[in-house]
Amino acid sequence: MKILVWYFSGTGNTEKVAKSIQEGLQGQEVDLIKINDVDPAKIGEYDLVVLGSGIYGGMVSKNILTMMKKITDFPPKVAFFNTHSSPMSYSGKAFKRIIKKFETGGAKVVGNFECIGENLGIPKEKQEEMLSNLPPAEQEKAKKRMEEIEGRPNAEDLEKAKEFGTNLI
Ligand SMILES: Cc1cc2nc3c(=O)[nH]c(=O)nc-3n(C[C@H](O)[C@H](O)[C@H](O)COP(=O)(O)O)c2cc1C
Repeated sequence: MKILVWYFSGTGNTEKVAKSIQEGLQGQEVDLIKINDVDPAKIGEYDLVVLGSGIYGGMVSKNILTMMKKITDFPPKVAFFNTHSSPMSYSGKAFKRIIKKFETGGAKVVGNFECIGENLGIPKEKQEEMLSNLPPAEQEKAKKRMEEIEGRPNAEDLEKAKEFGTNLI
């Protein structure tokens, strides 16, 4: 199978996951390419596109939305992945319009993967300052959450991403 792992990653978390997915796809012909480095006219040449993004303001990167407008031929199969820092799931929601576009173009959705990615967009000092402005009860909760997500995606997350890749084939 000719497979494209196609992703946007602002601070590197989604890129780590993309690389692990590629590892899981071992034995296939895989291109691992950043979102803006692909010619959108070539998307239809792949048997499977695995499209991923970090979540920013509840949405996938605008770079992906811009690219979507330029695709003319869709692949027969597509799968999605994302990394985010909040406890909620973004799999269906953030990709809703994109999924619809792929499906209208004839693609079948064959998989979805998501995991936590530490928010590296806010400097540690700023995070501490934000934390100190919260009421004590909320401060405790937020601190616990920060500890939970520190260093993610971790080795376990990346192993799961690799498995996700393998299960796609
Ligand atoms: C500007 C910005 C906005 C973000 N908005 C959200 C959000 O709405 N929900 C969420 O769960 N995480 C949010 N995050 C956290 C990122 O989704 C998370 O850290 C992700 O792993 C980033 O992926 P990347 O390193 O590939 O860019 C945001 C991060 C940044 C920098």
